[in-house]
Amino acid sequence: MVDGPKRTHLVSGATSGIGRAFYDYARGKGDAVIPIVRSPAGAHDLGADEFVVADFSRPREVDRALGAFHEPIDSFVNCAGIMQSKSLFDASVEDMEEIVNINLLSVMVAVSRLRKNLKPDATIVLYGSQSGFKGSFDDGYAITKDAVHALTRTASLKLAPRNRIVAIAPGIVAGTRMTQGRRSDDLGQVTRKVPMHRLGHPRELAEITYFVLSGSCASMTGCTIDVNGANYLR
Ligand SMILES: NC(=O)c1ccc[n+]([C@@H]2O[C@H](COP(=O)([O-])OP(=O)(O)OC[C@H]3O[C@@H](n4cnc5c(N)ncnc54)[C@H](OP(=O)(O)O)[C@@H]3O)[C@@H](O)[C@H]2O)c1
Repeated sequence: MVDGPKRTHLVSGATSGIGRAFYDYARGKGDAVIPIVRSPAGAHDLGADEFVVADFSRPREVDRALGAFHEPIDSFVNCAGIMQSKSLFDASVEDMEEIVNINLLSVMVAVSRLRKNLKPDATIVLYGSQSGFKGSFDDGYAITKDAVHALTRTASLKLAPRNRIVAIAPGIVAGTRMTQGRRSDDLGQVTRKVPMHRLGHPRELAEITYFVLSGSCASMTGCTIDVNGANYLR
């Protein structure tokens, strides 16, 4: 719960996009934020004194790193994730392993190993995606993100009543590495198709995440919050 003056958040994917926005936002609130980074260089760029090194493409490394991490935390926010822009029918087994390891298996390991670190009322937020519901050209992405929503549902039953877990499923978010590869006219076309005629922004997702961690959301658990401008209704 994030109502006290100084809270401690553990955040993956803090070097870019939504994770970076959350890192800056929570620090701006006076909280301590510990990034999980692939290499110490990532932590250096963030100016973080304390960090955990773990590559999510190697779930056993995540297991070791988080098993050895004993600091009590108020939240774990998982933003690490990849897209491969490959159909299931073009992907190699190595591609499939990579996306399952980063987007799902390491997240399962993290949720499991971090239970010991959760203070009473601490909350886990996992980034899913609208693609998990509507499907995607990148089938591996859609499959793993829907599994993150399922992980959120089933883990909520085990974590209650002490702790909460919530998934956030954005539509397309501008200003992230995931959208950087898209041409601006393509992004413009996509934006016009969204009923709200706007894309998400990392800062607004950081604020939503921070709200989800607050005591106002004490009954919110096991669910997935859609933030997609009505691009996909379910
Ligand atoms: N952007 C969107 O439109 C969108 C839409 C729906 C859902 N989401 C979800 O929201 C979350 C954040 O997305 P984003 O677009 O803000 O991300 P992003 O800008 O693409 O950044 C991805 C982050 O994940 C980290 N990461 C990638 N591979 C990793 C690995 N093997 N081990 C550890 N960390 C790794 C990256 O670290 P490095 O700097 O070390 O590479 C980076 O910090 C993701 O889970 C994504 O699926 C995004």
